[in-house]
Amino acid sequence: MSIGPVTFPEELVALLRKAPKLAVLTGAGVSQESGLRTFREAQTGLWAQHRPEDLASPEAFQRDPKLVWDWYAWRREALKGVRPNPGHYALVETAKHVARFTIITQNVDGLHQMAGNENVLELHGSIRRVRCADCRTLANTWDDDAESVPGCLECGGLLRPDVVWFGEALPRDQLEAAVEAARSCDIFFSIGTSGVVQPAASLAFAAHNRGALVVEINAEPTPLTSKADYVFHGKSGEILPHLVEAIWG
Ligand code: APR
Repeated sequence: MSIGPVTFPEELVALLRKAPKLAVLTGAGVSQESGLRTFREAQTGLWAQHRPEDLASPEAFQRDPKLVWDWYAWRREALKGVRPNPGHYALVETAKHVARFTIITQNVDGLHQMAGNENVLELHGSIRRVRCADCRTLANTWDDDAESVPGCLECGGLLRPDVVWFGEALPRDQLEAAVEAARSCDIFFSIGTSGVVQPAASLAFAAHNRGALVVEINAEPTPLTSKADYVFHGKSGEILPHLVEAIWG
């Protein structure tokens, strides 16, 4: 299914041409067209087939570290060969035309960086990194197919993915920078996220309350839709290239 020609309101186009300060929050939807599954899509979403509390929580890791390790190893395997899509590249292009551009991503896939974006805040960590569950030392290498969960070379603790699990705090430096970017931007984009997971879901409202224009690009309505100034419902990999073309083409 491809969308027809999208028209972008003149006011939005004019504002974006003024090279404002942009903050862009992204979620799993922005990587869907790269072949990665989202979390909450009915049937196909990861949480439709797995219980997050069984796989993405410190309690789950405590209970069965190998089950959790294997699930992330499976997700890393699924990431091999996955490439950014036109939506990712449109954000790289956008960054070239504005005063300040900050990507605040909930994604752990590293596709924004792979596409070429530099200023990427990883609120939920990265599945491409592994660290010690005890001393937090990052591992340079590890064996995803090991018989048991590999150990930390520093302290012998168990290795785990460097992602934020349910019930865990977000990396303070990333969150503080994200809040700052949201509060000081002129335009805030929310792209490909269901907007139900905190604190990421509150950033658009923080921007709105500071007078920023809020733009939502998502395949379906979210709790943010009624608050957003502009809403484009469809695929970000189709809408974003059209937007870039309309403004800077
Ligand atoms: N383009 C735009 N939006 C899309 C596309 C697409 N091609 N495909 C799906 N979407 C939308 C869906 O309609 C949905 O609203 O993307 C959203 C994805 O929502 P979730 O699956 O809930 O993912 P996300 O919002 O990133 O989840 C937040 O929850 O499970 C935790 O830590 C995990 O970072 C994740 C967080």
